Amino acid sequence: MKTTYRSEKLEEAFAALSANYRGTDIDLYAVCRDRRATSPVATGDFMNSIGVPTHAGANHGHPTFTLFKYNDVKNVLQDSATFNSRFMAKGFGSFFSADGLVITAMDGEAHRKARGLLQPVFAPDAVLPWRAAIEHQIRDEFILPLVPDKRADLLDFGLYFPIRVIYGLIGFPDEELGNFYEYAAMGLTVLAGPKIDPAEEAASRERAMKATNTLYETVMALVKRRRAEGAPGDDLVCRLLRAEFEGRKLDDHEITTFARSMVAAGGETTTRTFSSIMTLLLQRPALVERVRNDRSLVSKLIDEGVRFEPVSTVKVRQAVRDVEIRGVQIPRDAMVQCVVASANRDEEIFDNSDTFDIDRRQKPSFTFGFGPHMCIGQYLAKMELSIAINAVLDLFPNIRLDPDRPAPVIAGSMLRGASSVPVIWD
Ligand code: HEM
Repeated sequence: MKTTYRSEKLEEAFAALSANYRGTDIDLYAVCRDRRATSPVATGDFMNSIGVPTHAGANHGHPTFTLFKYNDVKNVLQDSATFNSRFMAKGFGSFFSADGLVITAMDGEAHRKARGLLQPVFAPDAVLPWRAAIEHQIRDEFILPLVPDKRADLLDFGLYFPIRVIYGLIGFPDEELGNFYEYAAMGLTVLAGPKIDPAEEAASRERAMKATNTLYETVMALVKRRRAEGAPGDDLVCRLLRAEFEGRKLDDHEITTFARSMVAAGGETTTRTFSSIMTLLLQRPALVERVRNDRSLVSKLIDEGVRFEPVSTVKVRQAVRDVEIRGVQIPRDAMVQCVVASANRDEEIFDNSDTFDIDRRQKPSFTFGFGPHMCIGQYLAKMELSIAINAVLDLFPNIRLDPDRPAPVIAGSMLRGASSVPVIWD
């Protein structure tokens, strides 16, 4: 590849993260179909049974239940007063600063206030002004230079562009981009912190803590610089420095901890989603033709792609009181695993749920979450995906899977995606 952005550290960290959450090679959707029919509310730790470290690394000996049906998952994700996220501060959250803005580990009033400050920054009309710059980055910086090659692995740039976009949004100057892929590698190392094997946990924790502290210092230096300048820009850090909700503003530490988490939240999630959607599309040449000729179908392709192949297959919550779901007693403090990959294919909600059909009447799926914690970056993610898909269709004429290289496979029990999508074009 002729481009200069390649970072071995990032590619290694991405592969290590994929391996950490790959789990056992089962037919996940067949297992889920069976569970929906036979034990929709199952006792036991499903994630552990499929060989992945429990999402937040924080079961702490509490009993665990697993939900497979759409309506049960929806009710739990929606009701954060009964099923909260605080425990995440002990899992992933312990790699971040406990007193910072670790929004996924917040509940109730504190979470509402934090969303009040952050949401306007990521609302559709707030994200729109970023579109031209993002389009330039994805299309001109990453995809255009590949055109003469007539062959590529879509992951060669699919791994990089979401990080490039976040980097620009946070407000880092272009000259420092090379370094940022190394910081992004650190972000992935943090995500790979929880381990299934306790013997590996200590070393992994040390690596993750080192990475998270280096990232903190880098982002904090930028935040201080922008505050000193009076936060004049339209980037994320400047917007957050100016943000106000119910009379409250964010301090430097909160902005730093939040911006730091963006690297992990918005990077590899978008990469894997891009890999899955492109795989599903390219496996269907007639669909490639349809979408190429009617670009209004790109948003349907994205919605159906994320329903059919969610990047993260399970979301975890903790019950704050005794509850009953479908006659199963769930005691206070129990962990509740919501299997998004199963709920998204619940046959009671989606006709022919195991068929990839961009023409279906879409109902909400849970790939971007649901309820109070629903992904704050979803409009941004969909904008990036749409720009990347359109650019590939525009610039790679007659794009198709490379017949001389292994066909892409969407794999992973917890984090799903294709590790390579080799293509050729005319
Ligand atoms: C295809 C890409 C993405 C997917 C599939 C995705 C998925 C999700 C999901 C499922 C949640 C909910 C977590 C929970 O319920 O515990 C979430 C939350 C979040 N996402 Fe995303 N995300 C994506 C991209 C992004 C991007 C680009 C950003 C921002 C740059 C972002 C920022 C966040 C933040 C800050 C939260 C926490 C919200 C809260 O806890 O209130 N995400 N995401």
